Amino acid sequence: MRNQVIISILFSIISTVLSICLEVDSTLSQSSSDSNTVTVYKSPTCGCCNKWVTHLQEHGFKVIANDTSELKQIKKKHKVPDDLEACHTAIVDGYVVEGHVPADVIQKMLNEHPTAIGIAVPGMPMGSPGMEGSYVESYDVLIFDQKGNVKVYTSR
Ligand code: CU
Ligand code: CU
Repeated sequence: MRNQVIISILFSIISTVLSICLEVDSTLSQSSSDSNTVTVYKSPTCGCCNKWVTHLQEHGFKVIANDTSELKQIKKKHKVPDDLEACHTAIVDGYVVEGHVPADVIQKMLNEHPTAIGIAVPGMPMGSPGMEGSYVESYDVLIFDQKGNVKVYTSR
């Protein structure tokens, strides 16, 4: 009887330790420290955001998509300049990706590692990934930094 009690106590200790380990492990995999994982914040009803997520996945990125009603606060927190705002905000390898940025431009940034907060495609230009339609606009992918500089990173 005593042995059984000890065994059941041991079991509960072991399972608690295990579950804590698993939790730590899952929070690690949720972070964006992996340069191949893009964490996306978007409104739950945003169709073009979902299409952009699919575009990233088709180009080899892992995506953690978070639906939120606090996009404004998230953009503020990640220092997205007001005039660069778009429909969704994403984080990859410590960089901010705002709006319908093409996957290959994200890859370019990850390879080049520029000193910047991130890159953005403001608004929602027609023809950008996730915004496919009846016509195609040309647009700039802008890069912005801590000092408030905004430059053209590449054009499409
Ligand atoms: Cu959009
Ligand atoms: Cu979007």
